[in-house]
This record gives sequence, structure tokens and C-alpha cells, in this order.
Amino acid sequence: MSLRLLSWLLLLLDLFRHEVPGAQADPVTLPSAASSLVWGPGLETNVVLPARFFYVQAADSSGRNLTTSPGEKTFEVKMVAPVEEFTRIWIQVLDRHDGSFLVRYRMYATYTDLHIHVLLKDKHVAKSPFILKGPVYHEGCDCPQPSGSVWEAHMHCPQSFPQIDRDLAIYSSVDPDLNAQEIPQRFGQRQSLCHYTIKDNRVYVQTFGEHVGFRIFMDAILLSLSRKVQLPDMEFFVNLGDWPLEKRKPTERMHPIFSWCGSNNTRDIVMPTYDLTESVLETMGRVSLDMMSVQANTGPPWPEKNATAFWRGRDSRQERLELVKLSRAQPDAIDAAFTNFFFFKHDEGLYGPLVKHVSFFDFFKYKYQINIDGTVAAYRLPYLLAGDSVVLKQDSGYYEHFYTELRPWEHYIPVRADLGDLLEKIQWARDHDEEAKKIALAGQQFARNHLMGSSIFCYYYKLFQEYAKLQVTEPKVREGMEHVEQPSDDLFPCSCHRTRAKDEL
Ligand SMILES: *[C@@H]1O[C@H](CO)[C@@H](O)[C@H](O)[C@H]1NC(C)=O
Ligand SMILES: *[C@@H]1O[C@H](CO)[C@@H](O)[C@H](O)[C@H]1NC(C)=O
Ligand SMILES: *[C@@H]1O[C@H](CO)[C@@H](O)[C@H](O)[C@H]1NC(C)=O
Repeated sequence: MSLRLLSWLLLLLDLFRHEVPGAQADPVTLPSAASSLVWGPGLETNVVLPARFFYVQAADSSGRNLTTSPGEKTFEVKMVAPVEEFTRIWIQVLDRHDGSFLVRYRMYATYTDLHIHVLLKDKHVAKSPFILKGPVYHEGCDCPQPSGSVWEAHMHCPQSFPQIDRDLAIYSSVDPDLNAQEIPQRFGQRQSLCHYTIKDNRVYVQTFGEHVGFRIFMDAILLSLSRKVQLPDMEFFVNLGDWPLEKRKPTERMHPIFSWCGSNNTRDIVMPTYDLTESVLETMGRVSLDMMSVQANTGPPWPEKNATAFWRGRDSRQERLELVKLSRAQPDAIDAAFTNFFFFKHDEGLYGPLVKHVSFFDFFKYKYQINIDGTVAAYRLPYLLAGDSVVLKQDSGYYEHFYTELRPWEHYIPVRADLGDLLEKIQWARDHDEEAKKIALAGQQFARNHLMGSSIFCYYYKLFQEYAKLQVTEPKVREGMEHVEQPSDDLFPCSCHRTRAKDEL
């Protein structure tokens, strides 16, 4: 046999060898307790979150990851605090239907130690039981870590956030004394604003304008963060309205205003939206749609999803009207309809009747999700990305805190601001199913990596820390400010064993 033939044969053999495992891959592969993986921040004492979480990846006995669900009830999670008499912890094991599970738990008290058992048919999975040496503090416990850098290390916060760097780069300094005078004068009459001071890790506020109800979200995140970590002394203004405010150019005298949404024409400092912030604080509480629940409700697997582009919402922008008209002309490509009319006149001839509200989780019966601006950016984008549909994102002048890190064609399919190429893009996705699916999964991975509660806390902390460094006069508790107190209705008070920053000095 010639050498050439031999090498061909070897190549063939090699190919065959690689083919075999695929061919044998059994759709009912059983997970193994020893091979499955368990990891995540919820296995660490010092990652204090409203809802702690960790992951389980099912793998078979040869160590191969399962890619479909082995069954919702495959893994059982139990938690015990051996020192305390009762363990009050609400645990949920969420099946992500891709072979992995998200385990989340909300603690209602602080524990001396916490033992987490992850079981598969009564067998311990991976390195279970996981022992969290305490005290393991719960969300309500007012026990700030005195060192910000220690806290950031515990939380595995990134070194920097591009959006924060960009927003703050235009300020060489910030003067709290001057801002305390000028910002209320400039915006205080016609806008709704909150003026916050953080002093010795206590929160003080004064509101300006009429519609200040949304301050509850800002109060809540500041109180929650200050229970976890010592915040720098600082003074800043939060815009409670939808639209960003600072329209001046960097060559003029600009005022730093914190807003939930940024735009190409303004210079506001963006924070995670109130919607995302609240969903983090109220996970396993007041909200049902959050970045974790959505992961367990992503609809049927990709091949079974309906290949129509889907959208529901209200009439808060002209392009939304155009979208619904387009859908009525091309029902085969787009299913878009209004659930509410508020801003425009409802012309049934043009836009059809209102349709019933669809549960957000049911959006994921469809492969293609249209994300289109409302009053400002559509705050649903984090949840849409977390699903396993592909997002068709309208180009927009508005952005949220994470948009700078999103890439068109990698995490979503871009669509022109005037929707002129929407039909074309839907057709592209239909013609390139594998690529569309890949974008869907990359978007999902982005959401899993960047938009979970721990990242949101990191973002706020980093923003405050970097902003505080710019201050050139002493932040003060101003006349007219009120103290925002920590909630006192916590059923299970905790004793904090950390040294307060004050004691250290
Ligand atoms: C299995 O899944 C885990 C978690 O997603 C991942 O880190 C690991 O690389 C995967 N292993 C293989 C062999 O693909
Ligand atoms: C897909 O969705 C469209 C619009 O909602 C609907 O008219 C169509 O019947 C669905 N197709 C299938 C196969 O279910
Ligand atoms: C807004 O700015 C971004 C980044 O420079 C750009 O990609 C986008 O096209 C702009 N969109 C609009 C509608 O102005």
C-alpha cells in the first residue's frame, strides 16, 4: 500500500472516530451526579443579593454536557442551616431546557452557616454539599462591607464598564456646591428630579417637580447597595422622567444628571433602567418577570418556534404605528398588534382592534422578536435577549447602560430606524436559520453574562465610585433634604459582624 493511500485511510478512520460519538448521542442520555457541574455566585457567602443564584449543568457519565432538558425535577436542592432552629429559604430550580438549570433562592434571615445540597436521585452532585461559612447575610441585613474593593472582588465585578467611562469622560470635575444651586434652578421647575446626598453611608434626598413617584426605585437601590457596601460620600441628581435632559455640548457648561436612558443628543449619565433595577431587587418578590424567571420560560425549542416576527405593545411612538400597519399588510411575516392606545387616536381601520395582553413568556413561541423604541428605549430588551429567540433591534438614538457592549449581527439583527428594511431582515433570518439561531444564542449568552443582578449592583457601585472621585467640594446634607431610612419591617433582624468603617479609623 502506498503511503498516500495509507494516509487517506488514516484520515478516514479519524473522521469516522469523530463521527461515532455524535451518531451514538442518545436523546434520552441520563445525567450523572459525578459528572454534572455546579457553579455560581450563590455558592459564595459574600455575594449578598436579593435572590442568590447558581447553576447546574447536567452531564452524562462520560462528561458530555446534555443539551436538552433531562426533566424539570432532575435535580433537587435542599438548604440547611445547622446552627439555627429553622431555615427560612425559598428555593426554585429553574429548568433552562438546554441541559442547564438556574437555582435561585431568597433568604429571609441571616444564617451562621449554610449547607447547600444539590441532589440527583438522592446522590450528591459534583462537590455537593456546598458549605457556606457564615455569617451568610440576607438581603435585609444592614451590614455593609467597609472596603469597596473587597466587596467588588467578592462580587467578581468587572474592572470597568465602557458606558461609565464614556459618560464620565466629559467631566474633569464635579462641584457639588455649584450643582446644588444650579441644577434645581435649571431643571427643578419643569422636570421631576431627586437630589441625593450619601453621607456616612446614609441616604438623604430632596425632590423637585411634581411627578416624583419613581424615586422609590432609586431609594430602593441606594438602600440595598448601602446595606451591602460602604458607599462613598457623594451628591448627585437623578432625573425621574423618561427623557434624558442634558442637551448642552461639552464646550458649554454641562450638568451631570443621572438618567435611566441615554440618547445620542444628550449627555446624561446612564444607569440601569428602573425596570431592570426593580426586577433585580424584587426577584422572587413583587415581580414575576425578571432576568431569571425569563430563562425558564423561553418557549418551545428553536425548530418548533413560529417563524413569524412578533411584537405587542402600546402606541408610544410613530414607528410602532408603522409596524402595526406593516403587519396588517404582511401578516405572513409579522404579527404586530396594539394592546393599548394612549398617545395617538385609535383608528381601527388602520391599526385593527386592540388585542388581549400576551404573557411575556409567550413571546418566545416566535423565533423573531422585534424591539422598537417606545417613549424612549424599549426597556424590555434585556428580557428579550435572555430568551432564545433572535432579536431584531431597531436602530435608535436611545440607549440603556449595556448597549455599548452589544454588537449588531453578533447579539441581534439590526433594523433601520425607519423600519425600511424590516421585511428584508426577517427574510434574511428565514433564509439563514442556522445563523439566526446563533445570533439568538449569542444574545442570550450576553444577557446571562452581563445583565444578572450581580452585574447590576456592580454597575451602580462602579458608577458611584467613579463619580465620587470627580467631586471637588465636600458633599453635604443640604437644607430641605430628608433622611431615607432603611426599612424597619424586616421580620428577622440580623447582627452584623463586620467592623463599621467608622470603627476602623
Ligand atoms: C459544559 O458546560 C459548562 C457550563 O456551561 C461549560 O463550562 C463546559 O465548557 C461545557 N463542557 C463541554 C465539554 O462542552
Ligand atoms: C404562526 O403565527 C402566525 C401569527 O401569529 C399565525 O397566523 C400562524 O398560524 C402561526 N403558524 C403556526 C404554524 O402555528
Ligand atoms: C446613535 O448613535 C449610535 C452610536 O454612534 C449609532 O450607531 C446610531 O446609528 C445612532 N442612531 C440614531 C438613530 O441616531
